[in-house]
Amino acid sequence: MEKKKIIIDCDPGHDDAIALLLAACSSKIKLLGISVSSGNQTIEKTSRNTLNICRYFDIKVPIAVGCSRPLVSEPMICEEVHGKSGLDGFDFPKYEDKFDSRNGASLIVDLLLKNEGVTVVTTGPMTNLALALRLKPEIVHHIKEIIFMGGSVDNGNVSPAAEFNILVDAEAAHIALHSGVPIKMIGLNVTRKVLVTDEIINRAFTIGNKKSIFFAKLMRVFLDNQKKAFHIVGAPLHDPVTIASLIDDSLVSYQSMNVEIDISHGNSHGRTNCDVFDYLHAPKNCLVGMNIDVKKFWNQIFNCLRSKSHE
Ligand code: RIB
Ligand code: CA
Repeated sequence: MEKKKIIIDCDPGHDDAIALLLAACSSKIKLLGISVSSGNQTIEKTSRNTLNICRYFDIKVPIAVGCSRPLVSEPMICEEVHGKSGLDGFDFPKYEDKFDSRNGASLIVDLLLKNEGVTVVTTGPMTNLALALRLKPEIVHHIKEIIFMGGSVDNGNVSPAAEFNILVDAEAAHIALHSGVPIKMIGLNVTRKVLVTDEIINRAFTIGNKKSIFFAKLMRVFLDNQKKAFHIVGAPLHDPVTIASLIDDSLVSYQSMNVEIDISHGNSHGRTNCDVFDYLHAPKNCLVGMNIDVKKFWNQIFNCLRSKSHE
């Protein structure tokens, strides 16, 4: 079966790191390239983290440094979850800097113009994708679909209304949602069902190979930081759900509905207004993830950790 061609735009970030690993290890995916966004940490740190992950697991794809800040809003980072480095918990060997000469948006444009039927996956603020859509509108004809981790059918995780990726760059998310490209939303209402717990971490440590130790060390910090910050017992493993849903299209169930981003400047800025009951009778512009097979998800994660790929 032909591999699914994808581009990932991410802001590693602990959960982004696992999404990258899952994509790289899957025989169903051909990762064309990675553009990096600022978000969980500054662009310098998210780019460095992306390069370290790819060097450590020998993931040979172009990595382009993207925007250092959102289109309009002031930059925001998420140090309380991801730490000062943006990927606290794992020490990489020293690698030389070898980023692609293009910026993030240009890499997205070039890879799309050279390929057909590409899935664009975003697991951070959507700034680079929005810029690419404005830079070269014709790329929409090369995109099969956009899958973004962001938003929520219900409440946010950085404000009562907004989820982090969308709050950081609400205008970018608005541009993506109005691109006319088929788009899937993997929001908190789904990702809050797949929780990293002490048991999950201990299970990974028990496997004891390169990928599982990497996973366990990162998730230890990812969970402990959120226990401290939010007094939770499990940390939602947000970003890998985008990739897992590509590997197994039965994993997530969707509902077609109208979704608009609140780009006003009140307390609901960045909210994904999901019209679940079609009150507005507005165009259904988004497939919104509504449920996930949690057992299948973790089976995918642990199959990836146990696999020989990228050992
Ligand atoms: O709100 C969760 C999202 O914000 C995830 O993508 C996480 O990595 C952060 O970017
Ligand atoms: Ca992310």
